[in-house]
Amino acid sequence: MRRKIVAGNWKMNLTFQEAKELALRLNTWVKANKPTAEVIIAPTHLYLEQLNKDLKNSHITVASQNVSAMENGAYTGDVSAEQLLSIGTKMSIVGHSERRAYHYEQDKYIGKKITHLYELGMSPILCVGEKLEDRDAGKHFDVVQEQVTVALERQKEEDLKNLIVAYEPVWAIGTGKTASPDQAQEMHAFIRKTIGAQHGISIANSTSILYGGSVNPGNARDLFEQYDIDGGLVGGASLKLEDFTTIISANK
Ligand code: G3P
Repeated sequence: MRRKIVAGNWKMNLTFQEAKELALRLNTWVKANKPTAEVIIAPTHLYLEQLNKDLKNSHITVASQNVSAMENGAYTGDVSAEQLLSIGTKMSIVGHSERRAYHYEQDKYIGKKITHLYELGMSPILCVGEKLEDRDAGKHFDVVQEQVTVALERQKEEDLKNLIVAYEPVWAIGTGKTASPDQAQEMHAFIRKTIGAQHGISIANSTSILYGGSVNPGNARDLFEQYDIDGGLVGGASLKLEDFTTIISANK
């Protein structure tokens, strides 16, 4: 049985007060509704310590949006896995397309982050996804295959149990344009096959593959009903409690 997951990537949004309030209201909802899907939120680094405390003993996992590939040292402005762990954060998104686009992060470097997280007993949510020009050129499978295999090539198989991958086509992020359930299913199945070819069928079958890119209360159910879609990584809609909880409820 693969884990069903709905994760909210809050990106660079919300004041501290707004984030605290949203997290507490979400916690109240989760307690009352006991959703089938695991719930994850990823606020800015700045708020992690407080939200870890506020959500201690809750059923919500608080994840980081990013982590350095380096160990502690002279890396101005970066946040290490060691530092995250020291405040109780055990999970981090890595390879988000916004990191790839604005900070030039590449697959090998993303793989290094994953290795470092695993060394500390932490876990990644690996984001992959093609740009519109890749899809238009018919290269989307090649691009995603390269992203997955390079990021995972140095990882140990025992670490990859319960891996989480998010397929986020760049053209669907924040655009209101969602991949159709068929397009998303096709790519999720391909990602699972790629992981299977590299690390074996049992790891492929235990990997939760989330879809991200303009998930909203209206399209979530159709996406989550697809065989290889185990949940969602939600941006904009995770900032509104009602929308996010409707999406969580859709993942049964
Ligand atoms: O990581 C989530 C993401 O990039 C999708 O964002 O706003 O299109 O749901 P959004």
